[in-house]
Amino acid sequence: MERINIAIDGPSGAGKSTISKLLAKKLNITYLDTGAMYRTVAVYCLRKGVSVNDAAAVEPLLKEINISYIGDPLDRHICLNGEDVSTAIREHQVSKAASDVSKIPAVRLFLVEMQRKIASEYDVVLDGRDITSYVLPNAKYKFFLTASPECRAKRRYEELKAKGQEIPYEQILADVKDRDYNDSTRAFAPLKQTEDSILVDSSNMTIDEVANFMLDAIKNK
Ligand code: DC
Repeated sequence: MERINIAIDGPSGAGKSTISKLLAKKLNITYLDTGAMYRTVAVYCLRKGVSVNDAAAVEPLLKEINISYIGDPLDRHICLNGEDVSTAIREHQVSKAASDVSKIPAVRLFLVEMQRKIASEYDVVLDGRDITSYVLPNAKYKFFLTASPECRAKRRYEELKAKGQEIPYEQILADVKDRDYNDSTRAFAPLKQTEDSILVDSSNMTIDEVANFMLDAIKNK
């Protein structure tokens, strides 16, 4: 039986995780947030005091990292060696660390292997940066979800504020642009839109509009 694999890529803050969760719920399938996996590796390195830019120091740590999931299939929490780190990985400084650690090929290979295994065992919506281009190039459903940097920074600002983290909008906008550059210019599996992905610009769309547009595209394929 052919697995349903829905691959969604795009820059940070485009709404990928919100939309992916909604699609997974509507289709009653699993959701895999691959960014959370890179964030978990970054958290481990930060805790160990190892620079996320030092590939030679990060590589040996990978064998000490066990990633697992607990809880509701539609709101799964990610665990690092058995500890629920789903809140810790959302701290602002972890975003840049995850982007940096994701440049290390050994880190990518380690996580991509897990992602492909999950995609082969479950019907799943996966979101990330390289799902359509590298992790699952043969996925039947592929989307590139984006929005303007200003719009993404504004959403991120509101999100952090709601969690009690007051970070100036200007700084968030600079961080968003910095991360876009970092993610799209790295050597191995950079963020890019593949020719066979459907482009969705969510700048002027509500969450429901985006989800309905994507559901229609899936049904009509
Ligand atoms: O989606 P996110 O912001 O949680 O991802 C954090 C970082 O992880 C992102 O800046 C780049 C990296 N990442 C990646 O390189 N490949 C993926 N498939 C997902 C995330």
